[in-house]
Amino acid sequence: MREKIEQLKSAALRQIVAAADLAALEEARVRFAGKNSELTALLKTLGTLAAEERPKVGALVNEAKTALEAALTEKKSALQQTAQTQKIAAEKLDVTLPGKGLKRGHYHPLTQVMNEAKNIFIRLGFEIAEGPEIETEYYNFDGLNIPPHHPSRDMWSTLFVEGGQLLRTHTSPVQVRVMEKRKPPLAIIAPGRVYRRDYDATHSPVFQQLEGFLVNKNVTFGDLKGTLTEFLRQMFGKERNVRFRPSYFPFTEPSVEVDVEWEGKGWMEILGSGMIDPNVFKAVGYDPEKFSGFAFGMGIDRIAMLKYGIDNIHLMYENDLRFLEQF
Ligand code: DAH
Repeated sequence: MREKIEQLKSAALRQIVAAADLAALEEARVRFAGKNSELTALLKTLGTLAAEERPKVGALVNEAKTALEAALTEKKSALQQTAQTQKIAAEKLDVTLPGKGLKRGHYHPLTQVMNEAKNIFIRLGFEIAEGPEIETEYYNFDGLNIPPHHPSRDMWSTLFVEGGQLLRTHTSPVQVRVMEKRKPPLAIIAPGRVYRRDYDATHSPVFQQLEGFLVNKNVTFGDLKGTLTEFLRQMFGKERNVRFRPSYFPFTEPSVEVDVEWEGKGWMEILGSGMIDPNVFKAVGYDPEKFSGFAFGMGIDRIAMLKYGIDNIHLMYENDLRFLEQF
């Protein structure tokens, strides 16, 4: 009996010490110290021993149990410690690593120039109007004194869509739409995209215009020139050379174009303008004897090219970050 107890005790201690993890330790506990363990079974047989043997063997069993429990507790806390250390190592976080940088975006150069142009006119008292990009022939041409089959339609290489409509070739149709609905005095700008069948370094099939017009009693060419000169000074600075050049548009009489000096390359035309033609007023039901006005339409892409020294309009539509990040 004593021998048996000693054997169990040393076998148990060996297994406890060898336990690689908490599960293995629990297995050892159940096997050697649990309710169904041999040690517990031994205690139950104490009654069969001689009376003087019982206390001695009982004490031995208890001593073995205490030793096992002590060993179990000690091993358990050692294993827990190891597990904790491993867990911490696995979750280790290097707080000195740099974070993921969020790149800060900015407006596209065309949006920047468009906003700047709008703001200049808003400060001068103009208000913003908009019109559709898919237009009717009436608003794009007829209402602007460009009758069907008139050769001046060729000034705009038009893209037609199904059903007889077209992609507006300029923002001028917004003039007709606004004047049809409202009475003078009016000072309006109309920003937006326009479309043409054109393609070279300064022409893109889609580009942006800013239309403007002002109608009131006694508006003169001096008002036109003063307004546009103020715009050009604010947009390009007082030092930049600009010129007004006589021109022709069906919806204005007289008409001018404005060129801006293009460093090292001569001049670039950026806008058309003129005094609104009496026929346009008649088409919207205004009395040309009573009212006069000026109008203009400028190319935002070209203004951006001149302002930033970009020599190819297509760069503005390619969304190449190496280009965009320069602005
Ligand atoms: N719509 C013309 C174009 O796209 C530009 C223009 C010229 C607009 C004269 C005007 C204007 O309002 O008066 O070529």
